[in-house]
Amino acid sequence: VSDMLIDSFGRMHTYLRISLTERCNLRCQYCMPAEGVELTPNPKLLSQNEIVHLANLFVSSGVDKIRLTGGEPTVRKDIEEICLRLSKLKGLKTLAMTTNGIALARKLPRLKECGLTSINISLDTLVPAKFEFMTRRKGHEKVMESINAAIDRGYNPVKVNCVVMRGFNDDEICDFIELTRDKPINIRFIEFMPFDGNVWNVKKLVPYSEMLDIVGKKFTELKRLQDHLTDTAKNFKIDGHLGTVSFITSMTEHFCAGCNRLRLLADGNFKVCLFGPSEVSLRDPLRRGADELELKEIIGAAVKRKKASHAGMFDIAKTANRPMIHIGG
Ligand code: GTP
Ligand code: 5AD
Ligand code: SF4
Repeated sequence: VSDMLIDSFGRMHTYLRISLTERCNLRCQYCMPAEGVELTPNPKLLSQNEIVHLANLFVSSGVDKIRLTGGEPTVRKDIEEICLRLSKLKGLKTLAMTTNGIALARKLPRLKECGLTSINISLDTLVPAKFEFMTRRKGHEKVMESINAAIDRGYNPVKVNCVVMRGFNDDEICDFIELTRDKPINIRFIEFMPFDGNVWNVKKLVPYSEMLDIVGKKFTELKRLQDHLTDTAKNFKIDGHLGTVSFITSMTEHFCAGCNRLRLLADGNFKVCLFGPSEVSLRDPLRRGADELELKEIIGAAVKRKKASHAGMFDIAKTANRPMIHIGG
């Protein structure tokens, strides 16, 4: 383990998020504009070998958790093979995926065999008609099926990501919590974040304090759990519920001080902060034959440029970033 992954604030980065594709089988409003986004031409996307090569470099430098994202990671045709090869990297403890759940139930048995250890599924509403409005596609039933399939396959907890937006699903918070009563679900309410093309507006943001208020009134036995320093979520337990409830408070109480996350995008760009606009290509040096040392220098220098925290929601909203669909969260 080198100091390549330690930034100038002493944060050690052990968690790499790899976006496998810019494509998606849904069109969520908070993630991309209605007309979709421009796609990087195929030859400029990382190949399976390139992904494994770069992942290996990170894992041998101290990364022990990889999360596969997208776009939607399950639309990548070689997803199983990628999982299998990544899961064999020596030193990797967790191979996770964040998925919209549309194609997951079908692919899950094989993905589990290929070494996928944890699953986070996005679901923003329990009402099918609202699901269609938000995602601009059908599929609510398939997502519910995938959540249950993941539970049945023994994933515990199955994390369900719910982006809370005022006037859309803030009236469903307590209904979502009902899911945790008898199921090993960790429901995570996420503050709405600004990205290019998602028409963010502070009025649509439901702050953590307000969500907590809503939940606390209905579930008076809500207890805060001890969080891990690197956790994106603030975690809670309700007596008698099998599952748990969390809040991801990126906007009103950021958790940058404990950040251990780095990102490799589908086009081979390396991004050290979700909201930091600076990116550096790892694909280009890799393709011109850069050796391990050179790649590590490029990565190390980018990590050292990482800021202490993001700039605050109003500045973020004004700064050019990529659309969420390109970053993968
Ligand atoms: P676990 O590894 O299970 O804790 O998941 P995670 O929260 O790291 O990843 P997931 O893909 O489930 O993302 C949930 C929410 O957290 C999404 O809205 C992400 O955009 C957000 N998120 C993930 N990583 C970061 C981060 O480094 N900074 C910020 N501000 N938000 C993040
Ligand atoms: N704000 C907050 N979370 C978002 N996600 C996607 N777009 C946004 C946004 N604008 C979530 C998805 C997915 C995770 C990767 O990020 O719901 O669960
Ligand atoms: Fe880390 Fe940047 Fe997210 Fe803060 S905003 S937690 S520094 S990735």
